Amino acid sequence: MIQALRGMKDIIAPDNEIFTYLLSTASAIAERYGYEYIETPLLEETSLFKRSVGESSDIVGKEMYQFIDKGGHDVCLRPEGTAGVVRMFIQNKLDKRGGIHRFYYHGPMFRYERPQKGRLREFHQFGCESFGEESVYEDFTIILMIKDIFDALGIGYTIKINSLGCPECMPGYRESLVTHLNDIRDGLCDDCQRRIATNPIRVLDCKNGSCQALLERSPVITENLCETCDKDFNTLLTLLESHDLPFELDPKLVRGLDYYTRTAFEFVSSEIGAQSAIAGGGRYNRLVEFLDGKPTPAVGFALGIERILDLVKIPERGRNGLYLGMMEPDALPMIIDLAHRKRKVQKVFTEYGKKSLKAHLKAADRLGARECAIIGEDELKNGEIWIKDLETKEEKRIAISEFD
Ligand code: HAM
Repeated sequence: MIQALRGMKDIIAPDNEIFTYLLSTASAIAERYGYEYIETPLLEETSLFKRSVGESSDIVGKEMYQFIDKGGHDVCLRPEGTAGVVRMFIQNKLDKRGGIHRFYYHGPMFRYERPQKGRLREFHQFGCESFGEESVYEDFTIILMIKDIFDALGIGYTIKINSLGCPECMPGYRESLVTHLNDIRDGLCDDCQRRIATNPIRVLDCKNGSCQALLERSPVITENLCETCDKDFNTLLTLLESHDLPFELDPKLVRGLDYYTRTAFEFVSSEIGAQSAIAGGGRYNRLVEFLDGKPTPAVGFALGIERILDLVKIPERGRNGLYLGMMEPDALPMIIDLAHRKRKVQKVFTEYGKKSLKAHLKAADRLGARECAIIGEDELKNGEIWIKDLETKEEKRIAISEFD
C-alpha cells in the first residue's frame, strides 16, 4: 500500500473544519488590518533562499527539498514564505513605486526536518508581510494583529521578544561576541565552534545545555544597541506593556533565519510540548536591497497552522443542511430537481440509491444534516415529500411544490 511520505499529512476530518475556520478567521483579521491576499509559487530558484534565509542556517544547509529540474535549473520547494513574497515584490517593481504594501498568504512549506510532534516536513503557514513602513509602530501593529488572531481562535500565548540591532550596532556587538566565544571555544559543541566563524549570533540559541551554561556571561545584544534601535525597542516594549500583551524579553532569541534586523519575536504556547513556537517574525529592513531591490523597510510574521490545530476553539455550529433521499427509484428526477433548487440557498446532501427510511435517517445523522427529506412510494403518488427536523424531531409531509 502506498502511504503518504514521512512527515506529511492529509488534512481530513476533524482537522479540515478547524483548518478552514482558522484560515477564514485569520484572513478576515488580516483584511481588517489592510492586508491583501496573494499567492506565490511553491517552487523557487534555490539561490533565492540561499541569499535570504542564509547559507549558514539549518533551513538552507540541511533542510531544503532541492533538486535540478528537467531544464537543468537548481530549484527547491519553499521552506518559508517571506523570501518568495520579497522576490514577487521586487519582480513587480513595487519597491520602485514606493508607499506601503501589505500582503497576506497561506499555504504549504517544506523542510526536511526530523519529524516529531509539532514538526512536519510539509506544514502550513499563515503569514503577513508589510513593506515600506519604517516606524516601530508597524512592528507593534503586526504583534497586535497576531494577538487578535489568537484571541479570536481562543489560543493562549506568551511573546518572546528581542532586538537584533542594525548595521550600525550589530558589527560591534558581533565582534565582542566572537571575542567571548573564542574564549569559551573549547567547551562549545562542534556546531557552535563552526558557527563562531559562519554565524556567531546563532550560537546564542544552541539547544545544548552545556553550551548554554557557558553562554551565561556572553555579551547581551540589547545592551549594545545604537541609539535609534534602543529607542525603537523601548517604544515597542512600552506599547506591549500598555496593551497588556504578555511578553518576555529574550536576548538569546535570534530566530533560525538570517534576514532579521531590529525586532524579532516568537509567540509560544505552553500547551503543545517541545515545539512550542506557534508564530514567529520580525523586521527585515535589508532583505529587499539584498535581493537587488530598492532598499525598503519590511516586517512580517508567520504562524504554524498544524501547531495550533489542537488548540483552536471552534464555535458550536450545530446541524446544518438538508439531506435528500428516496425509497422509490422513480423519484430520482424529482430529487435531482429539488436538490438543484435548494442548493441556491443551502447545503444539500443527496443519495441516489434506494434505501430504507431507517438507513436514510442514519446517513443524514452521520452527515450532520438538520433536515432529512424523503420521497417514498406514497409521497411519489401524491406529489409530496416527508421531512424530519433532526434537531426538534418534528415530522411533516407536504406537497413538493410547497417545499421552499
Ligand atoms: P519560522 O519561525 O521559521 O518563520 O516559522 C513560522 C512558524 O511556522 C513557526 O513558529 C512554527 O509555528 C511553524 N513551523 C516552522 N517549522 C515547522 C515544522 N517543521 N512543522 C510545523 N510547523 C512549523 C518563518 O517561516 C518566517 N518566514 C516568518 C516571517 C515572516 N518573518 C517575517 N515574515
